[in-house]
Amino acid sequence: MNRRIAVLEGDGIGPEIMREGLKVLSAVEKKYGHRFEIEKAPFGAAAYFSTGSSFPDQTKEVCDRADAIMKGPVGLAVQEMERIPLAERPEKAAILPLRSRYDAFANYRPVVLKKEFAEFSPLKPEVIGDGLDILMIRELVGGIYFGDKVEGEHTEDEYSHDSCVYNRMQVLRIARVAFREATRHNNHLVNVHKANVLATSRFWNSIVDEVHEEFPDVRLSSVLVDNAAYQLVKNPVQYNGVMLLENMQGDILTDEAGGVLGSLGLMPSASIGESKGYVEPAHGSAPDIAGKNIANPYSMIGSMALMLEKLFLLEKEARAVWDALTGVFSSGFRTRELTSKSTPEGKILSTTGFGDMVVELLEKA
Ligand code: IPM
Ligand code: MN
Repeated sequence: MNRRIAVLEGDGIGPEIMREGLKVLSAVEKKYGHRFEIEKAPFGAAAYFSTGSSFPDQTKEVCDRADAIMKGPVGLAVQEMERIPLAERPEKAAILPLRSRYDAFANYRPVVLKKEFAEFSPLKPEVIGDGLDILMIRELVGGIYFGDKVEGEHTEDEYSHDSCVYNRMQVLRIARVAFREATRHNNHLVNVHKANVLATSRFWNSIVDEVHEEFPDVRLSSVLVDNAAYQLVKNPVQYNGVMLLENMQGDILTDEAGGVLGSLGLMPSASIGESKGYVEPAHGSAPDIAGKNIANPYSMIGSMALMLEKLFLLEKEARAVWDALTGVFSSGFRTRELTSKSTPEGKILSTTGFGDMVVELLEKA
């Protein structure tokens, strides 16, 4: 297979974890005889400081002509972000525009913790039980993040607002993605909402019920988002299967899921539209540990695996990457944030050490 990939390294730990993602990608290329052409482009806060735009036109062109996009985390420490005018901040001027440019509405965030790694979680091993395997599906281009906003000069009138809007098509298409995935994940779909308060949630739920008729074999349950936040900590195993979330609720609960796993470094993600998609870790750019070679590249390498699986339909290759990722932990190695007092120093891997080991396991497999 021949594919062109736009690579947006991003800020903070972005470049160093991207390096590991690309290292593993080229191991896949060699082992399976594919050809992935990489084109790098600036994106995020660093792009703003070097070009005056956090999503420069040149980067848009690189992304437009690519088959898929690999993106690192973006953003810097608060003081530095404040040097960027609001309109050019990466969230507003780069990340959300990237999502809407490719209508990347379906955000896949797998929350996976095998029983043997229950110690990674701050929860008790009996709470992790036989392991977690939840696919969180978050609607990514609608809702309150994309609705009309009143801010800036209006705040002098002492009000501001963000409006939450969903139309029928937006709910229908994400619900179909979630039900389809549920048929492959335990036949269980948990629909998250806030229908006791929000009109958009009541609307959302009625469409989810409608789509359920197309997938009668899927067990559908519904839960209020506040209760879902509670249950995720109390008894996460009950959600093994697929969880469907609107944009903001999904943003919050996917971070909570990272906490349940024990590290946001274990949260890869893929965001897919009708014609193009991109992948990125679900976490931020961790400026406090940038450049120290200690960041966990799992989420970036896992995001690359999601690109192989979901965007290039290379299931065997993706599986081999997942197995290698798990293999590193099975051999007792840990990235620094996953260690405990009993982890021997010799088992602690640097960012590059982790990537090298994934490559080694992949080549051996
Ligand atoms: C995420 C991030 C983004 C979001 C931010 C950086 C805009 O938190 O991908 O979860 O809110 O979606
Ligand atoms: Mn988030």
